Amino acid sequence: MAAQVRVFSDVDTLNAAAARHWVDCAADAIAQRGAFHVALSGGSTPRRLYALLASEPWRDHLDWSHTHIWFGDERAVAPDHPDSNYRMACEALLDHVPLPVSQVHRIEGELPDATEAAQRYAAALEDTLPRASEGAPQFDLMLLGMGPDGHTASLFPGSGLPEVRDRPVAAAYVEQAGMWRISLTLPVINAAHQVLLLVAGADKASMLARVLGQAPATEPLPVELIAPQGDTQWFLDGAAARQLEAHD
Ligand code: 6PG
Repeated sequence: MAAQVRVFSDVDTLNAAAARHWVDCAADAIAQRGAFHVALSGGSTPRRLYALLASEPWRDHLDWSHTHIWFGDERAVAPDHPDSNYRMACEALLDHVPLPVSQVHRIEGELPDATEAAQRYAAALEDTLPRASEGAPQFDLMLLGMGPDGHTASLFPGSGLPEVRDRPVAAAYVEQAGMWRISLTLPVINAAHQVLLLVAGADKASMLARVLGQAPATEPLPVELIAPQGDTQWFLDGAAARQLEAHD
């Protein structure tokens, strides 16, 4: 299914549209499958979306009792570490909404062996999520960001993680990040019913021009490998989209 690209004048309108998309995905998933399984992205861009979802009127629009929060990736740090995606999600969202603790599934970044954390998270995914036709655990909504180097989740170019296809979660030491990372792999990302990439800021403009603006590269970057069976939406702010052709 082709990707849809929407450009918003500023980050606030981008996040309001993303909150509306989350509400719609959640309602569809709960109505059709009885639960809403969403994978959060990390970094700084999604923080404001999470805070918006934890505030009125969005908070009360959502059925938290049927929502399961997962993580697209995690840094190999303790859950209270400043770099932890889990900590960011707690501060912005999870500490402010009536989510049963058993429905928050974090990646155990504190484990001495990141590969063991990946295996434990994979087991939780496989025990809990429905399966897509080719067998991968299937999310209802996959939130992703994009780095200026074309990484997404923790699928960094050269890390070996973008090439993993035989398991749903993998870990590697990522030179660019200077740390071990644990990440969902492409088969799981591409099995999702809905993928929403939130990209904001001028530092993403040149990579977006490559990813969205020209023919597929011969050596695709990780974010260029996102091609789910489901629906892919790119939500961009004006600064990130400024090198793209004018949109109709
Ligand atoms: C992470 C994210 C990562 C992020 C991009 C963009 O753990 O850091 O999963 O893939 O989405 O690096 O990050 P910003 O939103 O901070 O630019």
